[in-house]
Amino acid sequence: MATGARGQSLEKLARESVLHPATALSTYQKQGGLIAQSAEGVTLTDIHGKTYIDAMAGLWCVNVGYGRKELARAAAEQIEQLGYYHTFAGTSNPPQIELAGRLLGLLRDRAGLEKPSKVFFGLSGSDANDTQVKLVRYYNNLLGRPDKKKIISRQSAYHGVSLASASLTGLPAFHAAFDLPMEGVLFASTPHHYRNAKPGESEEEFSDRLGGELEALIAREGAETIAAFIAEPVMGAGGVIPPPRGYFERIEPVLAANDILLIADEVICGFGRLGSWFGSGHYGIQPDLISMAKGLTSGYVPLSAVVVSEEIWSVLEGGTEELGVFAHGYTYSGHPVSAAVALANLDILESENLVENAARVGAHLQAGLRSALGDHPNVGEIRGEGMIMALEFVADRTSREPFDPTPAVQKAVAAEAARLGLIVRPLPSAGAAVALSPPLCLTEGDADRVVEILAEAVATVMAR
Ligand SMILES: Cc1ncc(COP(=O)(O)O)c(C=O)c1O
Repeated sequence: MATGARGQSLEKLARESVLHPATALSTYQKQGGLIAQSAEGVTLTDIHGKTYIDAMAGLWCVNVGYGRKELARAAAEQIEQLGYYHTFAGTSNPPQIELAGRLLGLLRDRAGLEKPSKVFFGLSGSDANDTQVKLVRYYNNLLGRPDKKKIISRQSAYHGVSLASASLTGLPAFHAAFDLPMEGVLFASTPHHYRNAKPGESEEEFSDRLGGELEALIAREGAETIAAFIAEPVMGAGGVIPPPRGYFERIEPVLAANDILLIADEVICGFGRLGSWFGSGHYGIQPDLISMAKGLTSGYVPLSAVVVSEEIWSVLEGGTEELGVFAHGYTYSGHPVSAAVALANLDILESENLVENAARVGAHLQAGLRSALGDHPNVGEIRGEGMIMALEFVADRTSREPFDPTPAVQKAVAAEAARLGLIVRPLPSAGAAVALSPPLCLTEGDADRVVEILAEAVATVMAR
């Protein structure tokens, strides 16, 4: 029995005392769950000493891998020097300033972005997207356009769980019984070619049709009522869905023509996940606003960043006369310890070429999955980009008929993989899919082992 500091059973105490996020609560009370004890590289160890390859990098976030002493040192040194001070009323600290400058440089130099101007720091992907909603309201109010407030998200999107960001999330479970989405959020179709294209429709034709749908939606609602369009470059929790060819090329001009801001949610894609520094650079997008979190600190400490364009900045700056203080910010905005860890994290990503590694080993992993499982009668689609991918299971490969009920299948595969020592994630997506999003330091040898275990788990579950 694993015990805590006071000799109590940790499993028992967890059931008695923790309300777990994103958990089937009554199932947890009966079955319990993994209690993580330590981790190193790509390997996680639980309190019983069982080890797992963490092919999810936590929740898509431990980009540099676990146990990096440089990050521990950066945090410890910063805590000793300045463990906290706020950043309200123009106050700052050296790590926050350096990090803001470095992020803008990375966006310009590594992603070819032309617009980034200023960085606002928060703590989570949810609060970053919440900030986005407030920023686009503030911006349009300052411009004297009080009706231009609606935001278009997409079905199957995941943007977080705060009231505003959960509203932008396009997954029914995140709305049910929470009285969401809030007013003013519209949903465009999921750009998933495998599931939503018409028979014989090419990716380009599908993208063109979605562009037409977006134009129709804007015309129906009135462009004067729509402030922004938010998109993950590759959709994450909703199924790991890379955009079909030509998608953003078709969408961006529609937004520009209707004076609608583009918010890129880079919370998963940023910092190397796709084998490029940012999803926006990967797909040649020029967003007006960018949300980042997760890989920014590899999840070691909480930190998010919202980047605003020069055009938005100039309106915000011009608002001081009318509104006084920009009255938005958190106690922990620009936290010096989080910023110091982020700087050390960026050093590792750069010096160890982990973005390039993500592209190379990610391609190797995807190829391995295709050769081991590509012909399996219950594997419908293997998709992904760089070091993020998903397998979608189907009852029938030819008709693409989904399993019914879907969640059982992906949960069973993930549970069997975990039994064999591999963590993958059953997704809350429309199709029955499991995701892989390993640390970017994964080696080809690790990738081969991931394929081996996952193939065995799929074979075992499908044979049932
Ligand atoms: C694309 C995206 N945006 C936002 C969020 C929300 O981030 P957080 O859980 O840090 O609030 C997530 C979390 O998975 C995400 O994947």
